[in-house]
Amino acid sequence: MKQSMPLWIAAHGLALAGLVANPAHAQKFDGLAATPQMGWNSWNTFACDINEKLIRDTADAMVKNGLKDAGYVYVNIDDCWHGKRDDKGVIHPDPERFPSGMKALADYVHGRGLKLGIYSDAGATTCGGKPGSRGHEYQDAITYAEWGIDYIKYDWCDTKGLNSAGAYTTMRDAIRSAGRPMLFSICEWGDTRPWDWARDVGHSWRTTGDIYPCWDCEFSQGSFSAWGVTRILDKQAGLRQHAGPGHWNDMDMLVVGKGLTDDEDKSHFSAWAMLASPLILGNDVRSMPASTHRIVTNAGAIAINQDPLGVSAWRFLKTGEVEYWAKPLANDEWALMVLNRGAQAAPVSFDWGAYHINDDLSKRTADFKHKRYAWTDAWSGKTGDTTRKLEAKVPSHGVVLLRLKAKT
Ligand code: GLA
Repeated sequence: MKQSMPLWIAAHGLALAGLVANPAHAQKFDGLAATPQMGWNSWNTFACDINEKLIRDTADAMVKNGLKDAGYVYVNIDDCWHGKRDDKGVIHPDPERFPSGMKALADYVHGRGLKLGIYSDAGATTCGGKPGSRGHEYQDAITYAEWGIDYIKYDWCDTKGLNSAGAYTTMRDAIRSAGRPMLFSICEWGDTRPWDWARDVGHSWRTTGDIYPCWDCEFSQGSFSAWGVTRILDKQAGLRQHAGPGHWNDMDMLVVGKGLTDDEDKSHFSAWAMLASPLILGNDVRSMPASTHRIVTNAGAIAINQDPLGVSAWRFLKTGEVEYWAKPLANDEWALMVLNRGAQAAPVSFDWGAYHINDDLSKRTADFKHKRYAWTDAWSGKTGDTTRKLEAKVPSHGVVLLRLKAKT
């Protein structure tokens, strides 16, 4: 009798025992996202057309082309990896697309020094119509843990009647009970204000509907819309105080390399860096143009995103179509983004001495009047300091991204 007990039932029993005995179950795993997570996700390019070879080749490419060294560690399988649940309810991957199984795939990805992410949904079916985790939360978390999964993106389709905070908390507790640290990425599109309840539930939460590879558009998908880069940026207003180390506002996966101009891609990447969003690539990283590679591996922009202070930027000035955003960094450094949203190149002449930037949230100030800072532009490599005006011609939909360090 004992021998015939399926592993998951044994594990489930243990997990339940753990629930009673160990109050630590009611916590997410700490330390998994001290800075915003970085990686790649299959959805934006491949949607449901995924298989284990794509994932292996992507992992190989990330090692070979320097993405791993740049900080991208998660290889995330999005929707449609699923096969069926068996008669015990255990989920299995699609046997045609993932014939070697997820454990073997996780071993492969780990062998390359990367981590493997997977996708599920709080409802009975995923957005792609595959089996969701509703009613199988503990069982699925145990299955993923056994496979060696490191990251779970948890979607919100087919959840009629579910309470979001409750459903995500159930999965958080299931992950905790399963015992393997897995980053928990909440994806309910900002519908129920996850920033108000998810700080202790997940490591990041999507703040908007899906991104669309355009600069400033709303793309109707029928019952919902997908959003261009500036639309998503505008939807972050009022959210910065909710993010911080371990709990990030997720502006959705990047569309760098997916049809925007290089200037737009730089602005998109800069904005996600400044607002401390997770940086999850969505392009085909097995074969990307050098220009795209240069953007997504820009060390200065990535360092701004990964800054350990973990404070998101805010817009402190808007003149016409030109916006100025500031982000306090560790060691009293600052990042400044000048973003030209207009259709024409914009001459910029920014008089530092006129500004005393004060951030109530992080209690940091940059007093440009009384303190001199040296700056470096992450994109052009130009340098200067705040004793002279910042003079630049910012291209249409383009950006200047400065890192400022006080001069002693
Ligand atoms: C939702 C999510 C997307 C993607 C798809 C998969 O739309 O927001 O990021 O995961 O589902 O079906």
